[in-house]
Amino acid sequence: METPVSDRQGSQGTRRQAVRRAAGWALAAMLLMGAVPVAAKDSPVSLPAPRLGAAVPLQKLLSGRSSSRSFGSGSVSLQQAADLLWAAQGRSHGAEGRTAPSAGALYPLEVYLVAGNVARLEPGVYRYRPAGHRLVRTAAGDRRVPLAGAALDQPWVEAAPAALVIVGVYERTTGKYGQRGIRYVHLEAGAAMENVYLAASATGLATVMVGAFRDREVVEALRLPHNAHPLAVLPFGLPP
Ligand SMILES: Cc1cc2nc3c(=O)[nH]c(=O)nc-3n(C[C@H](O)[C@H](O)[C@H](O)COP(=O)(O)O)c2cc1C
Repeated sequence: METPVSDRQGSQGTRRQAVRRAAGWALAAMLLMGAVPVAAKDSPVSLPAPRLGAAVPLQKLLSGRSSSRSFGSGSVSLQQAADLLWAAQGRSHGAEGRTAPSAGALYPLEVYLVAGNVARLEPGVYRYRPAGHRLVRTAAGDRRVPLAGAALDQPWVEAAPAALVIVGVYERTTGKYGQRGIRYVHLEAGAAMENVYLAASATGLATVMVGAFRDREVVEALRLPHNAHPLAVLPFGLPP
């Protein structure tokens, strides 16, 4: 209950609070209805928790895994994007443990979501933060066309509603393991990439590993930091 206030400034403050509260509720209701993009500002976007309940036998996931370069025209949901991001690098065990192993637990991989047509998410480039299972927008606008250009104009990169891009920050691992660390980072990217394929297989999404791209152009197209080495591009969407 609001305590009534007699002075003018106090009652204005109370009115302001009430208006703010009403606006907050209205925004929350619109978000629930999917009426406005979640990332209206540059605040982090909390992702829906990954769906862990689906009991699909591993053998079935493996036999269902395949590369698909055709996508339906509709959007993907934030849940579907969240499931793939979590599969790539989500926190899963212990204080720091992730879904993919990491040499020396140094975690040199970063995963970006290139969102073009993701429900309730403004088009843009988002960095996945495993801690908190959140997204932080790093570039605004739909970057699928320049990404496809960097990937030698492979049409499925542009046609998919979204893509994951796995990048390696080599120095996190070479600082401990020297040049051998490069090999470790590549192995880790392969593990993360296969996790994405299996999660897509489990959730009925289509994806393909794209490795043919010009590194520098990917960095520029997505406005990535200059020490980020793109290793895998995974366009994804609903099957046609
Ligand atoms: C390292 C690597 C790079 C790849 N690069 C591309 C690519 O640039 N474009 C593409 O369409 N597919 C690419 N693929 C997907 C392969 O073409 C695909 O895995 C292969 O045809 C076997 O088909 P499957 O994945 O359905 O079993 C790549 C796969 C790997 C493992």
